[in-house]
Amino acid sequence: MQFDQRNPLPVPESGALQAVAARFDSSFDWQYALDRRELMALYEKGKSASWNASDLDWSQEVDVEKIAFLRSGGEPTGAFNALLVPPHPLDEAQVLDFNLQMNAWMLSQFLHGEQGALLATAKIVQQVPWEEAKFYAANQVADEARHVEVYHRYLTEKLGCSFEVNANLQTLLNDILSDSRWDMTYLGMQIMVEGLALAAFGLQRMLMSEEPLICDITTRVMADEARHVAFGVLSLEGLYTREMSAGELREREDFVMEASYLMRERLLMEQVFERMGLDTERWLRWSLETPFMQGFRQMLFSKVVPNLKRLGLLTPRVRQAYEKLDLLRYEGGKDSTEDAEIAPPAELVKLLLEMRQGNPAAA
Ligand SMILES: [Fe+2]
Ligand SMILES: [Fe+2]
Repeated sequence: MQFDQRNPLPVPESGALQAVAARFDSSFDWQYALDRRELMALYEKGKSASWNASDLDWSQEVDVEKIAFLRSGGEPTGAFNALLVPPHPLDEAQVLDFNLQMNAWMLSQFLHGEQGALLATAKIVQQVPWEEAKFYAANQVADEARHVEVYHRYLTEKLGCSFEVNANLQTLLNDILSDSRWDMTYLGMQIMVEGLALAAFGLQRMLMSEEPLICDITTRVMADEARHVAFGVLSLEGLYTREMSAGELREREDFVMEASYLMRERLLMEQVFERMGLDTERWLRWSLETPFMQGFRQMLFSKVVPNLKRLGLLTPRVRQAYEKLDLLRYEGGKDSTEDAEIAPPAELVKLLLEMRQGNPAAA
């Protein structure tokens, strides 16, 4: 694997290397019962579904600004300014740059999230008490390394534009990696972060449907991620409904609510605004308050909510918090074991189509 890093990833101010301290038990399973059939089946599936990043067609030219220009019928400012109602109208060069930066920001956070998943799944291999889950998690570690590889290559070789990790994403990843309880690693990574990522990948693929290389990458990654989320649901099944004390359950509820708040209200693009020289405070307020942007962030929970419900974590306390964030609308959806279908929610599709056609009614 060799590629040209046209623009290496910017390193955070804190430095290139970051250590997250953690104390947890590594568990041997001397019984090797291997009788968790669904996990074993998922492991088999995972092994045969593996792919090689080198097989993608990396020779393709990628020009995101050109795509945005053509997509808008040569009028990029019209749809942007009318539909997204930015704090002030942007000119053509700014709109095209905004498109490029926003896309690079999303993909960069995917990359950093993938590295978090790589570390978290390695931790699951050590912590989880059953051999079947260790097998699958080990398979997932290899998937995550490949995901880091493809996003890194795409960002540095093809896009030539990237961002350091978002501070709030980093906080969430640190929390997951430093927790000593094995189920929290799962809950944080497999259910919350990967559940959200699945929806975000669907969004990315729709946004960049004219760009074949990123569509190929995203389709492959999504197929892997759908298995990873199912792995989380299968492993945690029954744990929160049968085996936990009220106090322990309360800690899980707190974690779910905190992580949801962080992912819905704090994962914002301030890095893009800063780089473009926009008034960060004003644009952040815009990201939080514009119905269009709110709609986007909300839809990212379309897979997380049914999965939490299946695990028995949509408790009265969590429900109350989700009611406020208007996330209960997804509770009737199918969870990741019932339905591996990873199509973005219909609402999202509608919103994107309207955006593309420059239809201000959607705002
Ligand atoms: Fe991944
Ligand atoms: Fe994953």
